Order: sequence, then C-alpha cells, then structure tokens
Amino acid sequence: MKKAIIIGASSGIGYELAVQLAKLNYQLGLMARRENLLLELTAKLPGEHYVEVVDLIDAERSEVQLQELLEKMGSVDLIIVNSGVGNKERKLDWLVQREMIDVNVRGFSVMSMTAMNYFGNQGSGHLVGISSIAGHISGGLTLTYHATKAYASNYLNGMRSRAARSGLPITITTVEPGFIDTPMVQDTPMWMASVERGVEQIITGIQAKKNHIYVTKRWRYVVWLARIVPNWVLRKFI
Ligand SMILES: NC(=O)c1ccc[n+]([C@@H]2O[C@H](COP(=O)([O-])OP(=O)(O)OC[C@H]3O[C@@H](n4cnc5c(N)ncnc54)[C@H](OP(=O)(O)O)[C@@H]3O)[C@@H](O)[C@H]2O)c1
Repeated sequence: MKKAIIIGASSGIGYELAVQLAKLNYQLGLMARRENLLLELTAKLPGEHYVEVVDLIDAERSEVQLQELLEKMGSVDLIIVNSGVGNKERKLDWLVQREMIDVNVRGFSVMSMTAMNYFGNQGSGHLVGISSIAGHISGGLTLTYHATKAYASNYLNGMRSRAARSGLPITITTVEPGFIDTPMVQDTPMWMASVERGVEQIITGIQAKKNHIYVTKRWRYVVWLARIVPNWVLRKFI
C-alpha cells in the first residue's frame, strides 16, 4: 500500500486530494488546523488513516509534528504541501499580510524542507507543492498572495535542482492552479474548474511524476503571455 501525507486536507483541493488518493488505495496522513473536518473526512474514506492537527503559523512546532507523523506512518512515498491562505488586500494591513507570509512562505518552507530531508534519508520520495499561476503575475489587490506564490514556485524549483544533484529518485512537482472552485475563491472568475476536475488533473500529473502541473492545462498559455506582456499592460487588468 502506498502512503501519502496531505498538509491542508480539511477543505478544498486538499480534501478532494484525500478523497481521490484514498480511492487509489493510498493510506493517508491528514494535517490541518480543523480537527473536526479531518475526522469527518477520515470517517468517509475507505481504509485506516492518520490525523495530525497542525497550525503552520508555528513553523517550529509544525516541523516536529510532521516528523512525528512520518515516524508513525513509516515509509511515506508522497508528501503534498497544500495549505495556503489567500486574502484580498483592499487596505494594506500587516496582520493580513503576515498570515499569508507565515502560512504560504514560512509554513510552506518548513514542511517542504522536512519532507525533502525525510526523502533524502529514505533514498526516494515525491514532494508536491501547491503554488499558483499567481506567482507569475503581480496583482495590486492580492499583492502579498502573488508574492508568496512566486516564492513557493521558485523554492520548489531550487529543491528540484537539489534532488537532481543528489542522484536519488526524488521527484519534486510544482502545481500551479488557475481558479478552482473551493472556499478560497469568493467570486466566479473566468475558467473556474470544479475541484473534482482540478484534482483529477493534479493526480494524473503526480502519477506521471511531472515537474510542473498547470490546472487546468490552458493556464499555461496565460503564464507564457505574462512572461512577454509588459507590466504596464498587465496593470490594466489586475
Ligand atoms: N482555489 C484556487 O483557485 C487556487 C488557485 C491557485 C492556488 N491555490 C492554492 O491551493 C491551495 C489549497 O487552497 P484551496 O483553494 O483548497 O483553499 P481552502 O479550501 O481554503 O483550503 C486551504 C487549506 O489550507 C489549510 N490552512 C490554512 N491555514 C493554515 C494553517 N495556519 N495551518 C495549517 N493549515 C492551514 C486549511 O486548513 P485549516 O483551515 O483547517 O487549517 C485548508 O485545508 C492553497 O495553497 C492555495 O493557495 C488555490
């Protein structure tokens, strides 16, 4: 039986990843703050799974908790760092920015780093980080979110170089969704995919051990466009 840990499994993409991976016969370790939602989820899934309550705002404690869960589960193949916060910034407020930096940058790094050290010691493994196409674009209304996702994509790319240099069979997958219908997305933006379809595409990419997954696939063209269109033009739209 394959084993996977999902960090941020209580809602949205992480929740659906748990549903679809359990159907593929994975044993899961599910992490997030809302224990009641994690327990409800495990009750619905086929098989036996682990729950570990974690608040990524406390990065040092989260590192220990992930290590403890890894020890309890033994030989984990796949770790998905999915937790994220995406707040709009109508007015600039440090507490709002800090939460995104704490979860999407500090929490993301400590979980990814712990996963990578674990796979290095084990000699193999697969780290998946959920970033966003937002990392390729700057946005005045969601500036901190965009910046944190640029960090996540860049960090994973560096981890991929490290994995390659190690010579070990360790895969690093960067997932960059456009819009997926989850509680994080308040309105109905263009090209919104259902969470079921989005997660199906993520899992297909994971199984193929892709370096990079755009969800849905058409968002890759937006990223290509963002690379060549000057900022003064992009600013008219975001
Ligand atoms: N939906 C989209 O269109 C979209 C697009 C691009 C990228 N993404 C990325 O996809 C990921 C999942 O987002 P989603 O859309 O599924 O949103 P969501 O439904 O709001 O899920 C967010 C997840 O992050 C967890 N989380 C938040 N703060 C946390 C903390 N302090 N400690 C531990 N876990 C925390 C939440 O669990 P608890 O609240 O229970 O802790 C929840 O499980 C995020 O990284 C997001 O940036 C989403």
